[in-house]
Amino acid sequence: MEDITQHPILDIPKRKKISFTFNGKKLTAFENIVISSALFTNNIKIFGHHPSDNSNQGIFCANGQCSQCNVIANGIPVKACMTFIEEGMKIEPCDGLPELPEVDKQIKLGNPQLISQKVLIIGAGPAGLSAAKTLGECGIEVLLVDDKNRLGGKLVLQTHKFFGSQEDVYAGKRGIEIGQILGKEVNNLKTVKIWLNSTAVAVFSDGIIGILKEKKQYCLIQPEYLLIATGAREKMLVFPGNTLPGVYGAGAFQTLVNRDLVKCAERIFIVGGGNVGLIAGYHAIQAGIHVVGLIEALPECGGYKVHEDKLRNLGVPILTKHTMLSANGQDKVDSITIGQLDEKGNVVSGSEKTYLCDTILVAVGLNPVDEFYYKAKQFGFKVWVAGDAQEIAEASAAIYTGKIEAVKILNVMGYSHTLNLVDLERKAEIMKAKPPSPEVIELPKQEEGVMPIFHCTQKIPCNPCTTVCPQEQIKTYDDQITQLPYFTGEKECIGCGKCVAVCPGLAVTLVDYRKDKDNPTVTFPLELSNRKLGVDKEVFVVSNEGDLGRFPIHRSRILKEFPKTQLISIKLPKKVAKIATAIKLNKTTYDESMDLYQSQRTDDDTIVCRCERVSIGEIRKWIRYGVRDFNELKALTKVGMGACGGKTCISLINRIFREEGIDVDQITEGTKRPLFIEVPMGIFAKTKEQKEDI
Ligand code: FES
Repeated sequence: MEDITQHPILDIPKRKKISFTFNGKKLTAFENIVISSALFTNNIKIFGHHPSDNSNQGIFCANGQCSQCNVIANGIPVKACMTFIEEGMKIEPCDGLPELPEVDKQIKLGNPQLISQKVLIIGAGPAGLSAAKTLGECGIEVLLVDDKNRLGGKLVLQTHKFFGSQEDVYAGKRGIEIGQILGKEVNNLKTVKIWLNSTAVAVFSDGIIGILKEKKQYCLIQPEYLLIATGAREKMLVFPGNTLPGVYGAGAFQTLVNRDLVKCAERIFIVGGGNVGLIAGYHAIQAGIHVVGLIEALPECGGYKVHEDKLRNLGVPILTKHTMLSANGQDKVDSITIGQLDEKGNVVSGSEKTYLCDTILVAVGLNPVDEFYYKAKQFGFKVWVAGDAQEIAEASAAIYTGKIEAVKILNVMGYSHTLNLVDLERKAEIMKAKPPSPEVIELPKQEEGVMPIFHCTQKIPCNPCTTVCPQEQIKTYDDQITQLPYFTGEKECIGCGKCVAVCPGLAVTLVDYRKDKDNPTVTFPLELSNRKLGVDKEVFVVSNEGDLGRFPIHRSRILKEFPKTQLISIKLPKKVAKIATAIKLNKTTYDESMDLYQSQRTDDDTIVCRCERVSIGEIRKWIRYGVRDFNELKALTKVGMGACGGKTCISLINRIFREEGIDVDQITEGTKRPLFIEVPMGIFAKTKEQKEDI
């Protein structure tokens, strides 16, 4: 593993190296990263061992939701993914249960301060920021809290350009840029107070929210209006080997690579062809990580076709109707075994293939982080929910829902405004719509002048190409954002390349016949090199049908408005000019699968509750015995009683009930109690140093 020192999209800041120890060994890492990332840069993926079976523990959610990455830092057990590395820090693996520190003083319990607040927003991702902006612009007093050290939520991890429209959701800009823009706007609002590194931990029946401010001060907030914008957590799968270090979510991977600039893998395999998996694959390639393959159980990938095309164009094998059979390895992942599915969803015998990889990204969807919302609703708070916590959708949809819920709050307050709720809701529905099947498009017949060619074949809500054209010659059919774009040709294209540079799907090329009709110049977008490619350098040109060959660069340029997208022009024979879709820097080399796979683990041994190491076999046994109540299942097996509070395993158990033919109506839900997040006891007891002023 190593640090990322160059990246086509991310600016690499000048960072100081600091020293720390792990298990007594002196190591170094860049400052301002969390402990898990510092360990990864030193090729340490095993952070400790589980108390019940000594199994290896490592990173899993990288988002503070589970506790699998626990380590002992300067004598205190902490989540490695949420705690920043410090100069001289002494880190020990968390082997077994951490010992309680000796305390020889009598503990004096402190009284946390109670603060009244007009609006409290929990979560400063796209939805929370958008809501804070809307309310703050109306002069409403808002407290915005987030558990990370910067604003933006998952936007901070998104190096790709966003879909939608430029006027409403900054389409064509990258997620990280959108996070910065929204963050700056909210920061400038006088009535919005921001608490970073501050975790909402509990909702109480007396209308109070417990917040751990800046990881050290426990505060009680009594909001008049509450908005939950806590985002989503990744879904997991139950498969043999699923708890091996090296199996983690695509979001965790993006955190390591795009936020902490750690090249955390050499060879990854992706499970899941939704947008999250497809985008993670593209981000991996941008970080110089080899993507061995991607599988999707359905006949088609669920993500946008343009995201899928980006990966296919770069030679990543995408296998639909395939499933994951096991993650293999003794200490950590060293390979994956997949199998093909038949029409009934069973694995075709003899179709098993094993590929070498050091990391398996599970990208099978997200679950809303909605426990705060439901508890607050139950306790009668005036509460609203936005973004992924409300419904899983694209970040651009979250920008809308944040605004919508803020408008609803304004309405309840009786605040007069001009924001049109119906219009916002209509637009949000468009952004949330599932993409339809791609269409076959006809390429223009014209072979003179210069014109854009649109390789986007799926009606998704996106139109920045129509906004950037200085000649106003790009339209979508019926002027609808969900229709495909076309070049009207009423006025001449001037070949500026802005439509090529802005397209989030990298699905526009520019074909120019003006100088040579038989060998027109084709311009492609490129986001894979941090250096401007020189003229005559050879690159590989691809079409949807496969590779078209190797060609020298005729011209390369970077437009001021799109500094991270190079426009590479290549002279191509007329017959392939319009079908050429993309360029790549290297020839594709396909990984061969290994011949035989012998599973060392049985299905029944597969772990469902990783915190308490409860297997699927044990859960099935009790379900078959007649258990239908989660609370009973908990008491019998300890499932859901671990450090993550069931956040990881409960949705998996629901699935096991379903597989056992138990109807959801027959199941009694487990009781959810605060605290929702672990808090060091010393904070409540005020044994830790605390600031009194807020
Ligand atoms: S996985 Fe954490 S409690 Fe089950």
